[in-house]
Order: sequence, then structure tokens, then C-alpha cells
Amino acid sequence: MNETFLKACRGEQTDYTPVWLMRQAGRYLPEYHTVRSKYTFLEMCKTPAAAAEVTIQPVDILGVDAAILFSDILVPLEKMGAPLEFHEKRGPVFPQPVRDRAAVAKLVVPDPELELPYVLDTIRLLRRELANKVPLIGFSGAPFTLATYLIEGGSSRQFLLTKQMMYTEPELYAALLDKITACTTLYLKAQVAAGAQALQIFDSWVGVLSPYDFSKFALPYVQRIIRELKEGGVTVPIIYFANNGATLLPQSLTSGADVLGLDWRIDMAEAVKVVGPKVALQGNLDPCALLLPPAKMEERISAILAGAKGARGHIFNLGHGILPEIPPAQAKFMVEAVHRLSRRG
Ligand code: CP3
Repeated sequence: MNETFLKACRGEQTDYTPVWLMRQAGRYLPEYHTVRSKYTFLEMCKTPAAAAEVTIQPVDILGVDAAILFSDILVPLEKMGAPLEFHEKRGPVFPQPVRDRAAVAKLVVPDPELELPYVLDTIRLLRRELANKVPLIGFSGAPFTLATYLIEGGSSRQFLLTKQMMYTEPELYAALLDKITACTTLYLKAQVAAGAQALQIFDSWVGVLSPYDFSKFALPYVQRIIRELKEGGVTVPIIYFANNGATLLPQSLTSGADVLGLDWRIDMAEAVKVVGPKVALQGNLDPCALLLPPAKMEERISAILAGAKGARGHIFNLGHGILPEIPPAQAKFMVEAVHRLSRRG
């Protein structure tokens, strides 16, 4: 198996910089649409053979150094008792938002082996199919990001209802986050037991918080998950991706994660200065830079590789998910360029 990704996560020397793309299993690939045309999105998440097939597609098509489980961060919330729908245009919708004491009290902490067997079966299937290829990354949402979907009832711009609950009913907010945190800890543990070789925690919307609110309403729950995983014997690398989180980087250093994921809004060399030798870094090409002509894209890639030189380890990635509009050939070129431009010795 190609161990480059795992070595870089652990801060070990590698022959070249490993690379994968957030949301690499997805709609920019015609091969994804072929499978997706037979199922709804949620059906696909619940059908291990289909989920495994689209997980492997980018490994074979792009030549990335890691696979990420095909699922969604919102899938476990359904089993907490919040019905989930995906609408073609609007994205995810929770038709019964969680906004009061009764709604929080009704939520349960599901046993992943019983309630989310399709996720764990997909992981077990993938470990067999990926045996001679690349490591498999499992994932979850971070508690704050997951809570925004439950409270807002779907995607949001201002996160007004979430902040309203945080500010006016902090105890209710804490009760909700405690349940999501317990669910996420069990869920990630079960993914590792099923065979996940690394974990990424996606905090997609945490960048809307001030540093003070981050320290009070988001970071402690991430710290709790990582601490409980590590105390419970989990040894696989853990990546924490705080999107739009450059200003939160000094605090994110205390998350307990082995790797911090960076969005593109911070210069890589600057990030290395802030985090020092404590953690490896992942990132951070602007997803739209995949539209650049090859020579220009290489300039951006080289700058990031040079900036990451002093890091404990570097995993190349986009600064957020790949967009459906990107031609697959451009993504493939990026992967090949990262390998070529970073090759040592
Ligand atoms: O990275 C991968 O390739 C693995 C699969 C994966 C998906 N979602 C598949 C997906 C992962 C890791 C996610 C995480 C996820 N889901 C996040 C965190 C990452 C991020 O982008 O910040 C978030 C916020 C979600 C919630 C979500 N899921 C939204 C807002 C949407 C609709 C908008 C969109 O981007 O499509 C989804 C749907 C979704 N999740 C799709 C895929 C492939 C598209 C579904 C389709 O085929 O129509």
C-alpha cells in the first residue's frame, strides 16, 4: 500500500508530498453521475457497493494518495432522530429543526453498529478493495458545524438562529452539543474499528465565530472528541479542518489533532510560522485555481510546497471541496504536478 499520506500525517519523511482533494468523490466526475443516476444521494450513502465504487473512482482516475469514505457529515444526525432530506437545488434540509428543550431532549445517541451499519460495511468493503492502493480516511462533521444544520434546518448564511441559541440559551446549546459530541465520538471510534486509517473532522462553518466564541462554543467539543478517541486507544492520525479558520489557528493548535487542515485564505508559510513543529498541515490551494492554465497552476502549487518546507509534515489538498464545475483533467494535472514538483532525491 502507498503509505505516503499516513507518513506525512505522522511527520515522517516521504519521497514526495502526498495529495488528496476534499470532496474528491463527487459531481465533477462523469463516472460519479453514472452511479448516482441509479440512486438518490442518501440511497447511495446507504448502499455499500455504490458508496465504495464512487470512493475508489478518484483514486483510479486522479491518482490521489488517499481515499475518503463516500458518505456525508449529516448522515449520523438522521439517526439521532432528525429526519434528513437532500433537495436537488437547496441541498440538505432538516424539516424538523432542533430549536427548543423538547426537541433536544428527543435526540438520541445512536449505536453506530446498529444504526449506521451501511457506513461501517462500506469501510470494511473498501479496506478489502483498497488493500494494495491507498489508505482510507473516515470522517465526521465537527459538533458546531453539525449543530448549525440541526438548528437552522439546513444550510445558512448568517447562522442567526445558531448564535441566538448560543447567546440566549447557552445551557440548551450545551445540551445539544453534548449529545452531538457523544454521537460523533462513538461514530468515529466505530469507523476506526471498521478499518478507517485516518479521520478528518470537518468544521465547515466555524469561521463565522469570533475567537472568543470559538473557544467557548466550538473548540471544547472538538477537543473532547479527540481526547476521548486517543484515551480510548485510537492511534490513527486525526485531521481537524476549520474552514475559514486562519484567525483561529493558534487556538486550533490545542484541538489535539495531529494535522490541521487549512483553507486558501492564509499563506502556507505564515501558517507554518504560527503552528511551528507541533502538527502537520494539510492544504491549501484555492479550489478555483484548478481553472488556471497548467503553467500558472504549477506556480501556485510550487509556492504552497515551498511555504510548507518547515512544516512537521505536509499533505497537499485544496482549501475546500472541489467544485462540480472543475474539468477532471485539471484535477488530474494538479495531482501529477504536486507529485512531480515535490519529488525529493
Ligand atoms: O469528500 C468526499 O469525496 C467524501 C464525501 C463527502 C460528501 N460530503 C459527499 C457529498 C464529504 C466528506 C462530505 C462532507 C460534507 N457534507 C460537508 C463538509 C465539507 C465541506 O464541504 O465543507 C458539508 C458541509 C456537507 C453538507 C452537504 N452535503 C451539503 C451542503 C450538500 C449540498 C451541496 C453540495 O455541496 O452538494 C451535500 C451533498 C453532497 N455531499 C454531495 C456529495 C457528493 C452532492 C450530492 C449529489 O450527488 O447531488
